[in-house]
Amino acid sequence: MLEKINETIEFLRSKGINKPDAGIILGTGLGGLTAKIENRIEIDYKAIPNFPVSTVEGHEGKLIYGDFGKKKIVAMKGRFHFYEGYGAEMVALPVRVLKYLGIKCLFLSNAAGGVNPSFRIGDIMIINDHISLLPNPLIGKNDDRIGPRFPDMGDAYDKYLIKKAMLIAQDHKIKVQNGVYLSTSGPTFETPAEYKYFRIIGADAVGMSTTQEVIIARHMNLPCFAVSIITDLGVEGKIEFTTHESVMREAAKAEDRMTTIMTDLIAAL
Ligand code: HPA
Repeated sequence: MLEKINETIEFLRSKGINKPDAGIILGTGLGGLTAKIENRIEIDYKAIPNFPVSTVEGHEGKLIYGDFGKKKIVAMKGRFHFYEGYGAEMVALPVRVLKYLGIKCLFLSNAAGGVNPSFRIGDIMIINDHISLLPNPLIGKNDDRIGPRFPDMGDAYDKYLIKKAMLIAQDHKIKVQNGVYLSTSGPTFETPAEYKYFRIIGADAVGMSTTQEVIIARHMNLPCFAVSIITDLGVEGKIEFTTHESVMREAAKAEDRMTTIMTDLIAAL
């Protein structure tokens, strides 16, 4: 794994990607933040050694590096999901590459179904914990050079960044929710019974990503901050027909608010 990471890093450095302050992985319909990256270098995943290719509409498959305010960031516009058939190694590699490029924090966003009955479509939920029902990406031989065999997950979502983001949201009068994100394999959306079950076991929102990336990041002791955009509701009496298009449409509506929070948060690092 380390050999592959080094090969990928060498390639990215040769393209001018150097010492980013933060990394950001953007979820379905949430790639617009990258428009604010200046003096950018864009590289298609296809061109990056060892990188998988994102196959989902709304996930463009580009690494974008440049100035974001006064900080240098590297953004993944398009991520890799278990349901695409990617093994854990393919989800892990890009996150490890970001860390070894030098990022100090990892920011993530996703689209999710709200199962907390007080949530509304369009809400932004700051993730304060997760329940991962995806396979653990650290299963297999551990490379002690990368991280420990048994990583602690008590502080998976950085408390300082959460607090700071709450204050930023308040300053901008952006309503935010807090809650537990539960990941499932997908690609099916949930049955009403499954939404109910996820609520009962402690979830506020359900999606198909993020937790494996956070596990890989925490294995390397990288602080994480993540938000879900609530694009549909898995609440009895409020469940509507959900499609990838409706998810993308609703995510796009929340994009500016999410970008505002991320922008100020990254500026404050
Ligand atoms: N379930 C799972 N993943 C999702 C959902 C959902 O309701 N909405 C957006 N991504």
